[in-house]
Amino acid sequence: MKIQIAVQCWGFIAVTGALAQGDDIPDLITDGPFALRVKGVASNSSIDGYLQTTDVLSYPEPQLILHYDPSTAPVADDSSYRFYFNYTGRMQTEGHELGFFVSDITVGAPNNLGLLGKAMSLQYRPNTNVALPALGASTGTVVDLTGFDQDNRAFLDYYIDDSITIPNKPANVSVDILYYNWALCWQTYYGITGQTLSWITAGSAHNPTCEQVHLIKTEL
Ligand SMILES: *[C@@H]1O[C@H](CO)[C@@H](O)[C@H](O)[C@H]1NC(C)=O
Ligand SMILES: *[C@@H]1O[C@H](CO)[C@@H](O)[C@H](O)[C@H]1NC(C)=O
Ligand SMILES: *[C@@H]1O[C@H](CO)[C@@H](O)[C@H](O)[C@H]1NC(C)=O
Repeated sequence: MKIQIAVQCWGFIAVTGALAQGDDIPDLITDGPFALRVKGVASNSSIDGYLQTTDVLSYPEPQLILHYDPSTAPVADDSSYRFYFNYTGRMQTEGHELGFFVSDITVGAPNNLGLLGKAMSLQYRPNTNVALPALGASTGTVVDLTGFDQDNRAFLDYYIDDSITIPNKPANVSVDILYYNWALCWQTYYGITGQTLSWITAGSAHNPTCEQVHLIKTEL
């Protein structure tokens, strides 16, 4: 069994040589459960609440997206507010573990790789710079590496600047810069519309409803 930890990881492997050996899924350490709080970055933002998984009833693999719930606390004992963070312990950025978000691993059957919970990966569309994090879109084999900083804020850190590409020269790739481009945007995915956790790849959001947010790991 192969795990392609991330498209991003190719860059990471090139940078560090880590993860290159072995065909098996690496042993995963899991942290959790925790809730994911979203708080508007702008001082006039009214966003302050929690993320809740919503099943989009996709076929064949059921996917979950993350909708905004403006309540002041996550609902206790509701697995749609419970998240885990899986990591190998062998990849860090600035001392922070790199891994990926997983939906509640205590519910549901294992996927075809025997993994519990659904891993997050960003879904891109051809005509917008606003991506949508979905859980289960890749059956857990392709993930977007993320981590938490000292303030428990989630980041993505894969860096490649295509605006300075030179013909025949490999791009400079690094995992040393922490990005916090999370946003809540009205999005439609598999026919389900809602205020959805999103990621703005670069520049200002093409979708005018986007409000940038901090994504914060909090106790349940
Ligand atoms: C916050 O203020 C900015 C600048 O005045 C404005 O463009 C934006 O629409 C405001 N956002 C909200 C959510 O009120
Ligand atoms: C997350 O890690 C836990 C503990 O190793 C494991 O049981 C689970 O299958 C993992 N899930 C995914 C999607 O990686
Ligand atoms: C990549 O980094 C090297 C060393 O920092 C620099 O000399 C080079 O110009 C960079 N190339 C690109 C395409 O940014």
